[in-house]
Amino acid sequence: MTNSLLEFRNLTKRFGGVTALDDFSMHLNRGEILGLIGPNGSGKTTSFNLLTGIYPASGGSIFFDGEDITNKSPRKVYEAGVVRTFQRSRLCLPLSIYDNIMIGDTSRLKTGICANLLGRKAFRKQYEETFEKARSLVATFSGNLADRMMEPVGALPMIERRRIEICRALISEPRLLLLDEPSAGMTHDETDQLMTDILDVRARGEGLSIIIVEHEMGVIERITDRCVVLSYGRKIAEGSYAEVAADAEVQNAYLGVD
Ligand SMILES: Nc1ncnc2c1ncn2[C@@H]1O[C@H](COP(=O)(O)OP(=O)(O)OP(=O)(O)O)[C@@H](O)[C@H]1O
Ligand SMILES: [Mg+2]
Repeated sequence: MTNSLLEFRNLTKRFGGVTALDDFSMHLNRGEILGLIGPNGSGKTTSFNLLTGIYPASGGSIFFDGEDITNKSPRKVYEAGVVRTFQRSRLCLPLSIYDNIMIGDTSRLKTGICANLLGRKAFRKQYEETFEKARSLVATFSGNLADRMMEPVGALPMIERRRIEICRALISEPRLLLLDEPSAGMTHDETDQLMTDILDVRARGEGLSIIIVEHEMGVIERITDRCVVLSYGRKIAEGSYAEVAADAEVQNAYLGVD
């Protein structure tokens, strides 16, 4: 077993005439929090979309835990243990906290007419178990939220919604969590709290690895072990936050952007 959980090898993605990712190679170590940074349109979300099987790659390959998962279906990638949150919130606002989280655990509840009619008792027991699992996961982020599991998500402030999105990703007990701009729409203090939560998750979860895409450099500096910098789909730097922040090409890529 190598120390590397994920590897992109010469990954390329073209959308018509736009090369969103250009011969991009990188790796993620087990248990690592990696910052994937770069100006707008540099290919960060596209990396997540290729990794999670949303779009096929135009070239190159993706290895997860030694297995080639290039162009596998989103379902297969999820089953392999890769989950994500989205740049724009994707909660169902009228649904409860519990329902929103269980959307992230499609493997567990055996629903359907037969399961309901034939095994009501078994179904009830299964429901209670999953509810308790979801509730205790939420409680690790916020005791207040854990007491409000049946309330609609739409009534909650942004930080609580973001916590629920992260719980939805974590409920399937993934090995790799992808966070696409988790601070978006939040205040500085809220972001700081959320980052503390994320560090706690990593400290608890045995071997959970995280890739975080984020424009807030304070966040990247605080929580990442290592950074990879993209510009126009190409990797231009890699190293600790201090190393990449001091890099002339990185500073140049960000000029006029931040
Ligand atoms: N589905 C798509 N169809 C066409 N072009 C796309 C598509 N998705 C992304 N692109 C293009 O690929 C490039 C990279 O986009 P991407 O969304 O990966 O950037 P990003 O680094 O996530 O940017 P941001 O920081 O603004 O979220 C951009 O030029 C974008 O317009
Ligand atoms: Mg993006």
